[in-house]
Order: sequence, then structure tokens, then C-alpha cells
Amino acid sequence: MYTLKQLEDIVKDCGRCPLAETRTHAVFGEGNERSRIMFIGEGPGFHEDQTGKPFVGRAGELFDKMIHAIGLTRQEIYITNIVKCRPPGNRNPQESECKTCIEFLRWQVKIIDPDIIVCLGSIAAKNIIDKNFKITACRGIWYPRGTFHIIASYHPAALLRDSAKKKDAWEDFKSIKKKYEETLCY
Ligand code: URA
Repeated sequence: MYTLKQLEDIVKDCGRCPLAETRTHAVFGEGNERSRIMFIGEGPGFHEDQTGKPFVGRAGELFDKMIHAIGLTRQEIYITNIVKCRPPGNRNPQESECKTCIEFLRWQVKIIDPDIIVCLGSIAAKNIIDKNFKITACRGIWYPRGTFHIIASYHPAALLRDSAKKKDAWEDFKSIKKKYEETLCY
């Protein structure tokens, strides 16, 4: 078993896939190591690659508003991505890149051992819940997996592109808040 710090050092040096060649910084993830809730995005964008921090660009600002709206802060949650290095030009990560990198995410989940996992967007949901996951049809549904409660909602970047999706995303986040309160009372 690794510690998160050991794992982060491995990720920072990782050269297992071609994304390592074009990254500025690998973005490991950050937040509360003992959090009961983990949010998982797709992969770093420009600002994340520049800073080494997850969700710090425009999508990150919207994400912060969404978690604050349900009474959470960055200090309370843990946030990371499926791939830890920026795909050039913000293209979707390829299947092979996800497959290689998800090993690090599995370790992160094992170490943090959250009650709730929130997939932000279809790439995260496809890699975590089901490879044929349809975000429009299946967002907002809870998937029990072992000790985890897993749900997917729209990626904040998708909400910035299409604000009509915000209403559904708000329903998802209210459901997440409810589950977060319920799991505390186990
Ligand atoms: N989009 C993501 O999926 N992750 C980030 O860290 C930033 C934008």
C-alpha cells in the first residue's frame, strides 16, 4: 500500500503514456485525504497543466460554486481526474491513456476510501461506471458498488457550454448533498 504522497511522487515522474511528453505538470489531485466524497473529472486543461492543480480554470470556478451551493468546500472534498496529464489541445483522453492512468486513480480511491464517488462528465462515468454510459440518460442515478455510492453528473465545462443543463446538474447536486448527509449517519 502506498501513501498518497508516495503515489503523487510516482505520478509526477510518470512516463507511461505519450501525454507525459507534452505536459507541463502532472495534476495528481488534491483535497482532504480522509474525505468521504471524491469528485473525478476527465483530465487537466490548460490552467491545471500550468499550475499542477485540478479544476482551477473556468470549469473549476463553476465547480467551486456548485460544491459551495451544497455546503461543501475544497478542504472537505478530494478532487482528481481520470488522466493526470493534459491531452494536447484539450482533446478527449484516448482509451489507452485512460486505461494506463486509471491505475493511479484506483490507488487514490483505495487510500482515501470515500463513501461517495461523483463522476464529472461522460469520460469519468465511462471509465468508472460503465463503458457504454450515456450521461444524458443516466446522470443522477446512484450506482452502489461495494462500499461506494457512485453517481455521475454533467462536467462543469459542459454546463458552461450549455446552461440549459444546469437545472439537471442542480438536481444531481441536491441528491449528492442528501447522500452525503445520509452516509454520515451510518
Ligand atoms: N476539466 C477536468 O476534467 N479536470 C480538470 O482538472 C479541469 C478541467
